[in-house]
Amino acid sequence: MPARKSVSSTTLSTEKSVLTDLFDRTISYLRLSLTDRCNLKCLYCAPEGRKGKLLRHSDLLTYEELLRVVRAAVSMGMSKLRLTGGEPLVRRDVMRFINQLGEINGLRDIRITTNGVLLERYAEGLRAAGISKINISLDSLKPERFARITGMDCFAQVWRGIEKAQAVGFAPVKLNMVVMRGINDDELVDFAQLSHDTDLHVRFIEFMPVGASSRWNADTYMCSDKIKERLQDLGELIPVHRGETDGPACMFRLGAEAKGKLGFISPLSHHFCDRCNRLRLTSEGKLRACLLHDTETDLRALLRQNCSDEEIRAALLAAVRSKPQGHRMEERLKEQEGGCHGRMSRIGG
Ligand code: 5AD
Repeated sequence: MPARKSVSSTTLSTEKSVLTDLFDRTISYLRLSLTDRCNLKCLYCAPEGRKGKLLRHSDLLTYEELLRVVRAAVSMGMSKLRLTGGEPLVRRDVMRFINQLGEINGLRDIRITTNGVLLERYAEGLRAAGISKINISLDSLKPERFARITGMDCFAQVWRGIEKAQAVGFAPVKLNMVVMRGINDDELVDFAQLSHDTDLHVRFIEFMPVGASSRWNADTYMCSDKIKERLQDLGELIPVHRGETDGPACMFRLGAEAKGKLGFISPLSHHFCDRCNRLRLTSEGKLRACLLHDTETDLRALLRQNCSDEEIRAALLAAVRSKPQGHRMEERLKEQEGGCHGRMSRIGG
C-alpha cells in the first residue's frame, strides 16, 4: 500500500502533471457529464420510475464554464477527456462545444460515450471535430428487449449509428454492455460472438449499485468470473496486452481469428482503484473524485462567484487530493451500507 503523502508537502503550481493524489496516482483523465437528460430511459439509470426530476438548464454548467474548467485542467496535465451524460448528444449546440474543445492545446484525446441514438446524424461531425474514440452503451442485441430495457423502440436506429461510426473511420468502435442477471445475461454468448465475427470491441461491465439503479441487488449482479464461465464453450480467451489508454478493461480475443476484442470491466469483483486516473465533473458542476463515493465539490458555485483561473486550479487539486484510496464497495455492501446515492445520469458513468 503506498504511503499517504502529507498535504502540506505539496504546493499548488501551474506546471504540468501537478494532479497527483495522496496515493501517488496521477489524475490525467477528466469525465464531463454534459447533461443529465437522455433520449433513452434505461431501467438501471433513469431516475426512479423513469420520471425523476431533471436539472434545469441553468443548473448545468454553460459551455463557456465547461471550457474554462477544461482549460484549467489541461494546464495541470489532464490530457484525456470523455464526454458523457445523460446522453451528451442531446445537449443543444453540442457540436459547437466539441469543436471548441478540439482547439484546446494540450488536450490530446477527446472521447465520447453515447447511447448511439443520434450517432447516425452526428458521427461524421464528431470525427471532424477530433473525437478520437466512441463508446456505445448497448445492453441487448434483441430489438424487443432493447425497447424494454431502454423504454424506446429504436434498436435499428442505434445499429445504424454504430455502422455509421465505423464507416466514418472510428476504430475500434466499443460497445459497453452492463450485464444484469435475469435481464440480459442470456445474450453474453451473442455479444462475445459479435467480437469474434466483427471488428467491434465488446466490453462486459459489472452492474454497479449506483443511485436510482433500483434493479441492482445480489441477484441481478453478475461478477466477471461468472460471465467468463458462460463463455467457456465458445473457445479460448486469449489475453491482449492492455494499451496505455485502454482504461480498466481486461481485454481478450475470442480465439486467434477474432476480428474484434472482448473486455471485462470489473469495478466490484476486481476493482482497479489503485490505478484509477479519473476525475469527474457532474452535469450540475460538481467535482467527484470517485464514482462510488458521494463526496463532491461544488465547482459551479465557485465559477459563478467570478473566480480566477487559479481558484479553479486550486479546486481541481483539492478534489484530486480528496480522492479516496478505494471505493470499498464490496465491504460496504457486506456491511449493509448500501450503494452510492448519486445519480448515474448526472455523474456520467
Ligand atoms: N453499472 C454499471 N455500468 C453502468 N453504466 C451506467 N449505469 C451503470 C451501472 N449501474 C454504464 C453505461 C455506460 C457507461 C458509461 O456506464 O451503460 O456504457
